[in-house]
Amino acid sequence: METRSPLYLEIRKLLQYGDLRFRDFMELALYHPEYGYYARSANPISPEGDYVTAGAISPVFAFALSKLVREFLGRVGGAPSLIVDIGCGNGALIQEIQANLEGSLPSNVSFWGVDRALGRVGGVEGTIRYINDAGTLPAGQPALVIANELYDAFPFARLVQRSEELHELWVRETADETLEWQEHEAESAYGDYLAGHGVALEEGQFADISLDWGAAYRELAARFPTSLFVTFDYGHPADRLFRGRARRYGTAAAYRGHQVSRDLLSDPGEQDLTAHINFTDLIRAGEVEHHTTLYFGRQARFLLALGITEHELFRPADEIASGGLAEAIEQLDARQAAQRLVLPDGIGDEMRVLVQARNLPTTGWSFQRAQI
Ligand SMILES: C[S@@+](CC[C@H](N)C(=O)[O-])C[C@H]1O[C@@H](n2cnc3c(N)ncnc32)[C@H](O)[C@@H]1O
Repeated sequence: METRSPLYLEIRKLLQYGDLRFRDFMELALYHPEYGYYARSANPISPEGDYVTAGAISPVFAFALSKLVREFLGRVGGAPSLIVDIGCGNGALIQEIQANLEGSLPSNVSFWGVDRALGRVGGVEGTIRYINDAGTLPAGQPALVIANELYDAFPFARLVQRSEELHELWVRETADETLEWQEHEAESAYGDYLAGHGVALEEGQFADISLDWGAAYRELAARFPTSLFVTFDYGHPADRLFRGRARRYGTAAAYRGHQVSRDLLSDPGEQDLTAHINFTDLIRAGEVEHHTTLYFGRQARFLLALGITEHELFRPADEIASGGLAEAIEQLDARQAAQRLVLPDGIGDEMRVLVQARNLPTTGWSFQRAQI
């Protein structure tokens, strides 16, 4: 018989007592404290790993965000402030932002990396504080709260419309010891959620939903009476995300070795699982906590408006000194990576950015030039 991973054996133990909601399966697959995908010390977010995020593609992402940090600090007028990266992964982005600003900021600015699975933050030097629960961040100080691909890593439920009924997908083990889907009637909370967004799924249409998207965002928003929230993620507002014709099978996907697959149940703990988020949940949650939406749009336009092209990787190639062939090739690769963040058809075109603020000016920000 095929040898099973320790995580599979853990999941099997639970399945002895009955089927497992996909949401709970995903919680274990990504966040089991010992065997979960994000519990491993190896960083899956790299060209050699399973997928890349903007910060792992090019240092120009951190460069642009460093400009935003300066702008934010200018607007809070020297008050002691927090710069926070929630879902910071291995901490590379917050480290780069801090390094870009090193020596030029007042000492009352503190940098924080928050991740529920901190095992990948290693060999850290400097003054960034790492914690695994955003609920323990000091409340009250002005905060710039960055989240890059945080919400798309939240465990979600898979729903499907069958005649008049909304079903939820659960997981069970077959007689030949593989995992398969099993449909059960959905909890009423999901029907209420869809109705609250004015969405009626078509017959056979799937939807991937986390009730925690809005709840987690709201909890954070409530924590910071003076704040700028900058959230990058894959997703859409509800009316687009749940559009029947375009998204009949939902948006759930598994990533491994830079290959995407719809086989969410294979090799738990060995592949990333993700779904596009409903930005309407975040927008509404922020508004309940008195946050105003300053920007919602494509990441590329946002980064361009922040001044990303002032980075030397965007200078004309002949202005960049190169020592030899190997260095020239390295430069070329680095320049192409930088451009991936802003060119059409790339990550910058697909990712959305939501910026909300509370108790801060609502106009005159550099990134708002992107909406003209
Ligand atoms: C897709 S990764 C993105 C990592 C990083 N932001 C980047 O851009 O490379 C999502 C990260 O969010 C973390 N995460 C998920 N839920 C979280 C939560 N509720 N609080 C803090 N971190 C969380 C995961 O452990 C994982 O490191």
